[in-house]
Amino acid sequence: MVRPEASKGGSAELITLDAVSKHYPNGTEALRDVDLRIEAGDFCFLVGSSGAGKSTVIRLLIREELPSSGRVWVDGQDVARMRRSQVPRLRRRVGVVFQDFKLLPRKTVGENVGFALLVTGHSNEEAREETERALALVGLSQRRDHFPDQLSGGEQQRTAIARALVNGPRILIADEPTGNLDPVTSWEIIKLLLRVNDLGTTLVIATHNAEIVNALRKRVIHLDHGNVVRDEREGLYAA
Ligand SMILES: Nc1ncnc2c1ncn2[C@@H]1O[C@H](COP(=O)(O)OP(=O)(O)O)[C@@H](O)[C@H]1O
Ligand SMILES: [Mg+2]
Repeated sequence: MVRPEASKGGSAELITLDAVSKHYPNGTEALRDVDLRIEAGDFCFLVGSSGAGKSTVIRLLIREELPSSGRVWVDGQDVARMRRSQVPRLRRRVGVVFQDFKLLPRKTVGENVGFALLVTGHSNEEAREETERALALVGLSQRRDHFPDQLSGGEQQRTAIARALVNGPRILIADEPTGNLDPVTSWEIIKLLLRVNDLGTTLVIATHNAEIVNALRKRVIHLDHGNVVRDEREGLYAA
């Protein structure tokens, strides 16, 4: 198998799924023979009803799960074949945010964002600077010393986005990022993700929010029962 060209910017592939199938231990076939190519700079939606396989794709990309067959390449690396010691590096190059934010409740906003830098050996000074930069990007500089339960849902999600970006990842993946948010706040989060994409980060967003997908006319990859049934630029999320 030819190794996808390692990304050099431009149009290089950042994410490649080659004939990927995933069976969970209980026998569920979550993905079936999925081929997918996502290039540096893309902004794409992964859509499909509950159980279609969206989160499974995301788990494969961050090596939370391994494919049952086929290959998954992220930023030039075969995630199944990478050494355990390389996994933290992969996780730094791929930021992730979730529907339920997953913030540490006893840490402040600034600590939640800066934590990953401190545990990877950055100095306090570097961590502080990078944290400030990430908080400024998401518009939360004023909330640095607040705790998650003092924030609105949108602010919690923006904190999670700042945390995902603080390492300067090439890819930001969001699994139902607006699933717990009202429509106005959802739009604020999506606008922020568009800005992050404009600044050069590749975005993959799993969602079943048809209103947002249809308003933006970005690339839409449609999963159904573990199959990619449609993949369109300027796509719609239509039944
Ligand atoms: N850890 C797991 N063990 C067994 N089955 C799972 C597991 N995670 C997901 N599944 C099943 O795999 C299929 C795809 O799930 P998922 O990727 O979570 O879909 P989506 O995110 O689109 O809702 C579903 O049938 C789901 O029940
Ligand atoms: Mg899911």
